[in-house]
Amino acid sequence: MVPRRSAVVVTWTTALVAAGAAWVGVGPGREATAQPAPACNMPTTDFCNAVVQPPANWHGHVFELSQAYPTAAPNDAQPWAAFNPRTQPDQYIKAVLAHFYEGNLRPDVEMCFEPKLNTVRGWYNAPWQDFGTNGREPIHGLTRERVSRPFELDPHQSRSWNNYAVGFYNAPGAVTIGRVWADRGRPNPAFGSMPNGTVAAKLLFTTAPVSEVPYLQGAPTWNAYVYADANDPAPGPTSPRAVLPVRLLQIDIAVKDPQVADVTGWVFGTFVYGGGPGGQPGAGWTNVAPVGVMWGNDPGYPGSGPLIQTSLNPAVHMPHVGFQGRLNGPVDNAASSCLSCHATAEAPAGTMVPPHGADPAPWFQNLRSGTPFDPGRQALDYSLQVSVGLSNFAAAQALARSPSPAARHNLLMQMIRMDARPPRDGGAIH
Ligand code: HEC
Repeated sequence: MVPRRSAVVVTWTTALVAAGAAWVGVGPGREATAQPAPACNMPTTDFCNAVVQPPANWHGHVFELSQAYPTAAPNDAQPWAAFNPRTQPDQYIKAVLAHFYEGNLRPDVEMCFEPKLNTVRGWYNAPWQDFGTNGREPIHGLTRERVSRPFELDPHQSRSWNNYAVGFYNAPGAVTIGRVWADRGRPNPAFGSMPNGTVAAKLLFTTAPVSEVPYLQGAPTWNAYVYADANDPAPGPTSPRAVLPVRLLQIDIAVKDPQVADVTGWVFGTFVYGGGPGGQPGAGWTNVAPVGVMWGNDPGYPGSGPLIQTSLNPAVHMPHVGFQGRLNGPVDNAASSCLSCHATAEAPAGTMVPPHGADPAPWFQNLRSGTPFDPGRQALDYSLQVSVGLSNFAAAQALARSPSPAARHNLLMQMIRMDARPPRDGGAIH
């Protein structure tokens, strides 16, 4: 349940220390946490930027959570509104991407998508994604995402590779985030409805090298302070970190649009770098191709014949998309779809991916914006970062309230085990 007010909140790092873990501040690659972190995620402080500090010798980009959430959104252009997502999906999703790119690209790749340098419009990050093994790293605020198993990204891919991502909301979405979190000691999911015109966009990067995923040639590359063993499918808090290059693989977009209010209220689309296997050579942020667009889950689809509410780009040939050909991205779980998983955004958190053996039909309904996946819960309007943030907050409260050090230790161990499988893979959230 959503916790009641408490002055005590526990961050991930303090939880590890309090549990007696000698993991923080010691060992190769962990010198980062030796620097004292400023207080954050407390009822009267800012939200935290990341789960660990950057390495002591790091002089490059440092992530600062864009958290000056506006109380009202300025009037802004909505260039995608000129297109019908059902009949012009390609133009529609490209218009949203151009809007996201505007003011965010600059010659220094490390300084791209830095909200404080964008003079065109504000972009904001969701709070409380900095908790647990998969929490934000400190250079670009990347969270650990689903691991790509061999051949999921490309026929040349022989090993598993970790993926990392950072998401941004435009001002309309950020107004909602600000309302949910107005009282930082007691967030209120009842304010979790996103206004029309909300855009959320997420940049997904992979540790996979060009030798295994050739279409990544020319992809923008960021440094990130992530788990040093890029092939480790289940890192934990003791796993060493290192600054590794990560390459742009996928860009996810979600738009709340009244044009599809009769279906789900949301249009989701995704891009793959370089056009995917056998795709287009090129370089830079703009060398991406839409994989497809969806605005509904095609409930009752028998598994063959055309899908009506997913439109895939015929020029892109990914090794997989989503369940029965519905839209999903390169890093995503093929048993799910964008809207299937995001429809489970609610408080308390729902089960994102149909469990093995379960009838998948409930996960492929069309839930209108505002309808919770599980009756009686608070719908969070397809916004999983809001859902994950609230769950992380609740987990921190549960740690703070543990009746004994042993109980806290057990709870922490349970959370660490859950984190081995990120929610985007179908794992539970705290
Ligand atoms: C199996 C679950 C799952 C699937 C499938 C999935 N996502 Fe997400 N997505 C998540 C989770 C969990 C988050 C929040 C945590 C994070 O960002 O790491 C998220 C965050 C996002 C965000 C940031 C805003 C928000 O709503 O939280 C966008 C945009 C997004 N996803 C788009 C997409 C698109 C587009 C697809 C399909 C191509 C997709 N997602 C498929 C689980 C999923």
